[in-house]
Amino acid sequence: MTEPVRATSDDSTLVRVRGLTTVLNGKTIFDRLDMDIPRGKITAIMGPSGTGKTTLLKHMTGQMRADAGEILVNGKNVPDMSREALYKMREGIGYLFQNSALLTDFDVFENVAFPLRQHTKLPEVLIRNLVLLKLQAVGLRGAARLLPNELSGGMARRVALARAIVFDPMLIMYDEPFVGLDPVALNQVLKLIRTLNQTLGITSVLVAHELDAIKQVADHVFLIANGKVVAQGDPKTIANDGSAWTRQFFGGEADGPVPFQYPAGDYAQALGFGGAAK
Ligand SMILES: Nc1ncnc2c1ncn2[C@@H]1O[C@H](COP(=O)(O)OP(=O)(O)OP(=O)(O)O)[C@@H](O)[C@H]1O
Ligand SMILES: [Mg+2]
Repeated sequence: MTEPVRATSDDSTLVRVRGLTTVLNGKTIFDRLDMDIPRGKITAIMGPSGTGKTTLLKHMTGQMRADAGEILVNGKNVPDMSREALYKMREGIGYLFQNSALLTDFDVFENVAFPLRQHTKLPEVLIRNLVLLKLQAVGLRGAARLLPNELSGGMARRVALARAIVFDPMLIMYDEPFVGLDPVALNQVLKLIRTLNQTLGITSVLVAHELDAIKQVADHVFLIANGKVVAQGDPKTIANDGSAWTRQFFGGEADGPVPFQYPAGDYAQALGFGGAAK
């Protein structure tokens, strides 16, 4: 039997996953998955709904435990970390939730200030400066006193982004940042992801379904399915790599390794009109 590959860390890799295995409610989500996230780059993770993309992010931040495998973040194995070490590591990770998850009773300023108030005892003047700096970075300093229900979807996403970077993270994870955005808002978020990556040197992990958007920002893309990485490469060319996985996933074909379409009966019949329905 061959020895499992030991996870190691080098300067060019920020997150190294080896042999990750997860079973949830009897369903195998990851089956000895390996993945390297390069430092300072933008890495996209794609895959059919329910394959475990969000779960993978949660394994990396230690919010969910895997059954086996190693996840080295900056050279340290997340499953071995003490609670204190985990909290310390999480301060270095910004997490953008799919639904923005803003606190509805707090205005934009207080939403961004929230993590600072929770985790630090910084004086008010410093909190104010930090919050305004982050709001300026996402172009929303002028919206500081608006409530979440007064924001468009794109603005809410940018506020969530300002909050995610409030501790100057080394790693930022975006879970579905483009969902529901119009082309203008989508481009603004794309531009922000790129700017944060370049100007602050943040390593970015991006879970998304929109290949066109991913082509514009990501350096590398992983396609996961059936518990493993089934394809990876340059987002500009991956759809044409000739494999059955990529042909089906990017071509949106119903037939292939992944079942996309669920068979349905006749609609009129289901509504009780029988054969008489036109
Ligand atoms: N805490 C949990 N307990 C049990 N099962 C879970 C838990 N979290 C996720 N799952 C299951 O793990 C699988 C993967 O879920 P996950 O949310 O990671 O998928 P996803 O790839 O992010 O999907 P989507 O593209 O729809 O967001 C699903 O079958 C889900 O039901
Ligand atoms: Mg998800």
